[in-house]
Amino acid sequence: MAKTVGIGITGGIAAYKIADLVSRLKKDGHEVIVMMTAAATNFITPLTMKTLSGREVLTDLWNEAQGFNVQHIDVAEQLDLLVIAPATANFIAKMAHGLGDDLLSTVVLANTAPVLVVPSMNTNMFENRIVQNNIAILQDYGYHFLEPGSGHLACGTAGRGRLPEVQDILHRIEELLSPKQDLKNKRIMVNAGSTREDIDPVRFITNRSTGKMGYALAREALSRGAEVILVSGPSQLAVPVGVRFIPVRSAQEMCEEMLKYQADCDIIIGAAAVGDFRVARVAGQKIKKTEDKTRQVVLELVENPDILKELGKRKTEHMIMVGFAAETENVLENAKKKLLSKNLDLIVANDVTVEEAGFAADTNVVTLIDRAGSCRPLPKMSKDEVAAAIIDSVVALL
Ligand code: C5P
Repeated sequence: MAKTVGIGITGGIAAYKIADLVSRLKKDGHEVIVMMTAAATNFITPLTMKTLSGREVLTDLWNEAQGFNVQHIDVAEQLDLLVIAPATANFIAKMAHGLGDDLLSTVVLANTAPVLVVPSMNTNMFENRIVQNNIAILQDYGYHFLEPGSGHLACGTAGRGRLPEVQDILHRIEELLSPKQDLKNKRIMVNAGSTREDIDPVRFITNRSTGKMGYALAREALSRGAEVILVSGPSQLAVPVGVRFIPVRSAQEMCEEMLKYQADCDIIIGAAAVGDFRVARVAGQKIKKTEDKTRQVVLELVENPDILKELGKRKTEHMIMVGFAAETENVLENAKKKLLSKNLDLIVANDVTVEEAGFAADTNVVTLIDRAGSCRPLPKMSKDEVAAAIIDSVVALL
């Protein structure tokens, strides 16, 4: 079905490739509204985009001649999807911090449709922590991202930062325009993040998990029509709008909450990094230093419940359960053992020693293994894309 797609072009050399994207969207029958920043018009002319899109290109916040009273609001209301491609580091920063100082940035603020951001820039700029933090902020708000490709860059270097192939951008646009609703009438419970095991009133034991993978799964399940219960350890991430949110602290608390809801769920995904041990006796007061520097303070640890194993014991015939196996060696072998010992249907194995995979990263490199023995290695993807692949596999198992 024909949709209205906003294409926001910012000032990067890959802007010329967007001419092809606009042309192909038009051929597919979509209405395309092109908006360009002032910088983008240095790379490709609005005339090219006007000819290809068949309508006026919007560049100027102050141009009232176009017949709209408040143009940026009017445009934003028409959109089924807003695509920012190429997205420069500067424009990503503006979006992440809510700046609206030109036509495109004010459309972004007024827009309520899904947003797809396609970054393209020099590798060092893309990998700069400030840029990565801004991307993470936008992902928390539910913005979709396409990972840039690797290869030769126009600045003369090689690395990550190329605009993905137009074909791949088109494919993602179609997915976002017609989201699958294959989890309608299903209830899914996801756990996410780390757990905290208290030592005394001010100290605790935890791990490096941030919750990114679990929150991405919750967002993906929501967008595909599921009712979602998100049981989360302490996390800095924004709670996806629409989930039933159950914040917890310790592994025991997480376990109790999940057992409460298990019977009502069709699907359970254990993405949390549950602490395996807790302190046997939590001190009632802050443990003090003493003058005796030879004194040893010994923490006695006891094992926490294995939440998935407990849920696995109570699993009913039509319930699908998914776990993760973060491994540092013999990845597939160890993951298969966990699949069976926890009574799971699918396990997501990842080697956490691989760069840009596992804890705190925005990307992940995983292999999906199911009970029937099928083993599907996936390339390096954003955690959003991994979430979509996991949900695809769950739907296939349903
Ligand atoms: O046994 P291992 O910790 O490697 O298994 C990882 C999987 O088991 C993850 O899905 C994790 O959420 C789950 N798990 C759990 N309870 C624990 C430890 C891990 O549910 N105490």
